[in-house]
Amino acid sequence: MRGGVENSIVRSIVAAGLLLLCHGPVLAQTGDAEKGEAIYQKRCLQCHGEEGDGLGPAAERLNPPPRDFTLGLYKIQSSAFDADLPNDEDLFRMIRDGMPGTAMPGWSDLLSEQDIWDVIATIKAFAELEGEPEKQVDYGTQVESSAESIAAGRKLFLADDRCSECHGVEGKGDAVKKLKNDNGERTWPRNLTKPWTYRASADAKDIFTRISVGIPTTQMPSFADPKSKKKLSIEERWHVANYVASLAKTGKTVRADNTVIQAARVEGVLPAAPDDPAWDTAPPSTFFMVPQIVGKERFFKTANDTISVRALYTDEKVALHLEWDDRTKSIPGDDKARTIADEELTEDSMAVQFPTKISAGMEKPYFLMGDAAKPVNLWRWSSGTTQVPESVAALDAKGIDDQQARDGDGGLAAKGAYRDGTWRVVLTRSRKTETTDRDVQFEEGRFIPIAFFAWDGSNSESGSRHAMTTWYWLLLKPSAGAKPMIAAIVVALLIGGILVWWGRSVAARRRDSAP
Ligand code: HEC
Ligand code: HEC
Repeated sequence: MRGGVENSIVRSIVAAGLLLLCHGPVLAQTGDAEKGEAIYQKRCLQCHGEEGDGLGPAAERLNPPPRDFTLGLYKIQSSAFDADLPNDEDLFRMIRDGMPGTAMPGWSDLLSEQDIWDVIATIKAFAELEGEPEKQVDYGTQVESSAESIAAGRKLFLADDRCSECHGVEGKGDAVKKLKNDNGERTWPRNLTKPWTYRASADAKDIFTRISVGIPTTQMPSFADPKSKKKLSIEERWHVANYVASLAKTGKTVRADNTVIQAARVEGVLPAAPDDPAWDTAPPSTFFMVPQIVGKERFFKTANDTISVRALYTDEKVALHLEWDDRTKSIPGDDKARTIADEELTEDSMAVQFPTKISAGMEKPYFLMGDAAKPVNLWRWSSGTTQVPESVAALDAKGIDDQQARDGDGGLAAKGAYRDGTWRVVLTRSRKTETTDRDVQFEEGRFIPIAFFAWDGSNSESGSRHAMTTWYWLLLKPSAGAKPMIAAIVVALLIGGILVWWGRSVAARRRDSAP
């Protein structure tokens, strides 16, 4: 299963789309475990393992790992927290729709409903589970979302550190604690502002269910359990669910048709501080980041999955504002960072990549740090340690193994700030430099290829272990009055269209070639 992880991103997008189609309720049917066995062998074994123990050949590359069916425990359960098995409908839903944010695909294109009931019988047999649970989640009367309900929910979320203990004050899952699943493997609390990573969905009812049941096999507890000191009444759970659903409505979602970062021209001085309100005037473009798995040591388990970018420019300079959620502020030397880190702790870091020269034909260098024929510029920012302040370096790169630090960087400057699970970094450089053969030049109205890399220092990411985007475009929009670049805009639309088509066909290919 090469590329399981980046496929899982495409899959998440597809799954999110499927959720919107909103399937009607399914009624449980009995499956035939013997018929299901053949389906299991063909479609499920490579991840979930011959014995159903989650140890299929592809498993070691997957984060989170495939479910071990021999334990009979499932994450997404709408039977009560003290029921000992999920409803068959819960299993049906996860198999049909898949689990966003993981490698678990949705099977609705390849398996009929009856096939799914059959394979459910097979996987239940691994744990000798029989029948259906009696106790169900009690939904009482749903509280509609409103400003009051959301405010009440936020209070309960924070009270006694009830949810913030793991999910952070703003819900970004910026861990304050090291969490493990029942298998002793490291797990992360969900970043509740990223609905595309929810295994079920970010609908209030689904969130209510998760709060009521907890997420079995993980440390996410039930808040309906009378034994819990932080128990919530039904009404309170609806308030919290409405609050969490409101967090998921974020402006930082990826739009597949958005491939161009539009930089507006401003008068005066560019905002150098990441929290300067002037940045609010620049619309963010958000891109997926995927693990680096093509060159050198391949690394499948990167922590950062998106980056949002804004840009502004003046006559003289260009500034980029980069924002990405990172659960851990990784500052070597810091005791707290040390306890949260997995293995070795290095600095958090990110890099912006430009071609050294923009070719007239719009061909771009090799996306992974260029090559000898078409080198790239990298602007690499690092968060610093307790001894050394943050830093930025201009590098010339001709591939992942060939990066040279250099002088004469056109006055490249950087300022970063970390708050509540998010890094914000501003990078500023002169639009023109003297070494035009070695540096990208920022001309107005020109489509400039741009790509991003990120390293999470608490997740053993350094060197070639990192997350990255593909190439996108930066456009310094000519100010009003300058000639509109009709041709350039047409090209951008065309390229946007091609990317959307490409995204769709990758998704389709994935489905066709699925095991
Ligand atoms: C490419 C790997 C892969 C394949 C193929 C795959 N799964 Fe999964 N599956 C996963 C992963 C990873 C998880 C765990 C996700 C998590 O823990 O959030 C999972 C979880 C599940 C769950 C648990 C749902 C829950 O609520 O906990 C079920 C049920 C399941 N898979 C059934 C199947 C069936 C049936 C098939 C074959 C038709 C299948 N899977 C094929 C990777 C896979
Ligand atoms: C002890 C830590 C902990 C606490 C406390 C906690 N959670 Fe979680 N939560 C987790 C973990 C871990 C996950 C991810 C589980 C997984 O790996 O799938 C999670 C996942 C979630 C999800 C994602 C559901 C999905 O479909 O993927 C929601 C929503 C959520 N938590 C809401 C809450 C709310 C609301 C509270 C407070 C009432 C809360 N959590 C308290 C640890 C916690």
